[in-house]
Amino acid sequence: MTLKLATSLDGKIALANGQSEWITGEKSRQKGRLLRAEHDAIVVGANTAVLDNPQLTTRIDGQPDPIRVIFDTTLRLSPESNLARTATLTPVWIFTRDSSGAKAKALEELGVRLFEVPCSDKVEAVTALQALKTNGVNSLLLEGGGTLAASFIQCDAIDRIEWFRAPILLGGDGRSGIGALNMQDLNLAMRFNRIDVSELGDDLHERYERVR
Ligand SMILES: NC(=O)c1ccc[n+]([C@@H]2O[C@H](COP(=O)([O-])OP(=O)(O)OC[C@H]3O[C@@H](n4cnc5c(N)ncnc54)[C@H](OP(=O)(O)O)[C@@H]3O)[C@@H](O)[C@H]2O)c1
Repeated sequence: MTLKLATSLDGKIALANGQSEWITGEKSRQKGRLLRAEHDAIVVGANTAVLDNPQLTTRIDGQPDPIRVIFDTTLRLSPESNLARTATLTPVWIFTRDSSGAKAKALEELGVRLFEVPCSDKVEAVTALQALKTNGVNSLLLEGGGTLAASFIQCDAIDRIEWFRAPILLGGDGRSGIGALNMQDLNLAMRFNRIDVSELGDDLHERYERVR
């Protein structure tokens, strides 16, 4: 799985109030959209889906749109959202605790596919990732937010990082690109090899691979 991060210099993906458009410049965003076309599916957490109301499409002529996947324990995504309204054009798959009820029905009528999976507190990441694989998703692009990224790091599911870093500072109250990992020992920190660095306008694009 690839983790895509578009952050400030201090690793923040949004202000405390949720504002995140736009941290990186146009060249980074264009490259980010190309990355989408290279993957079978994109995944985001429910907060990103609800707060940003994203389309998660490639929007580049001739480039395919991947499946759009949301981890949404309590089915917070609105049938009015950009994702739900375009589900017949580009698939939207939601992993959730309960796929019965009126909202689930409304989403399904719009073409959204619901996967009911075990959720103690949140969607059980390992089970959902296995279900994605079973359904033909062999390459996945994680586009945030920090909370979902932390979950995937904790189950060691990240193989590559594509990090777009803008020359701005958002401070400690900003939302982190990687949420809490509750790590107690530096020796347990996951290590990545930097395989490439390039300039994209004012931004830096760093590429990393997991050391296993
Ligand atoms: N700069 C960027 O490139 C970028 C990219 C993406 C997002 N953002 C910003 O990031 C912010 C949202 O990030 P966030 O960290 O608050 O939230 P997030 O990671 O988008 O979503 C977290 C939510 O996803 C749901 N979830 C379901 N299963 C989960 C699992 N196994 N692990 C983790 N979460 C799971 C949970 O909500 P439920 O319990 O309701 O299911 C959880 O609270 C927004 O402000 C957005 O604008 C920025």
